Amino acid sequence: MSLSAADAAKRAAAVLALESVSDGMKLGIGSGSTASWLVRLLAEKVSETGIKVTCVPTSEATAALAREVGLALSTLDEAGPLDLAIDGTDEFDPRLGLIKGGGGAHFREKIVAKAAKRFVVIADETKRVSRLGAFPLPVEVAAFGSLATRAAIARVLEDLDLGRAAITRRERDGEPVLTDEGNHVLDLALGSIPDAAELARRLDGVTGVIEHGLFIDMADCVALGRADGTAEILRRIDAAPDPREIDLMRDEDA
Ligand code: 5RP
Repeated sequence: MSLSAADAAKRAAAVLALESVSDGMKLGIGSGSTASWLVRLLAEKVSETGIKVTCVPTSEATAALAREVGLALSTLDEAGPLDLAIDGTDEFDPRLGLIKGGGGAHFREKIVAKAAKRFVVIADETKRVSRLGAFPLPVEVAAFGSLATRAAIARVLEDLDLGRAAITRRERDGEPVLTDEGNHVLDLALGSIPDAAELARRLDGVTGVIEHGLFIDMADCVALGRADGTAEILRRIDAAPDPREIDLMRDEDA
């Protein structure tokens, strides 16, 4: 099977992230085209090695794919705390801050990532940026009073000197796109976000905002895939070491 350069890079990222998956794990599985590679390769790993994993999908689309390839699914409420969440991204910066939500699944994705001990992002070079914001920031808002919420978001942007940003309701065939939770999505064309943590805090405070796509201080590492099939792990400077690495350090000390 010959893959496009983009698919080869996504596949390589997923292959590397899968090295962290072991028997008995409870896993959060992300959404989007890169995460689809993860889901398919995870199913292959499960059938080839016989390991047992329980998967919590972050969207209805991922749940459908996971069912199709035979993965065992659970809900987050049934599974409880997760060992690991693996998901794609639309952008990542040098501190591994993310913009997610290109597929409109960032609300469930954020809940799942926060429920996991470790959050590994799978990405290719097209997602790497020096500063977040070129990708329009998705903000999931309640359908009720969405114009009032939009106006409140515009005021936040004004306050932060981001007032020139275009705010667009995500639509298909002239109708608002509904998320899996039945909400609307606004895309904020910011261009560049000087202080993403501050913007995240301010959006968290807007009534009617269900969740925004800024994932700040959440990712432990990025598995970065390349078109030649190679991949590497990029770590957050302040990331906690992998527990297995701590064990290795102890062995060396002994
Ligand atoms: C969906 C997401 C996806 O992870 C993000 O859009 C990346 O998708 P892809 O791997 O297709 O580029 O956040 O809400």
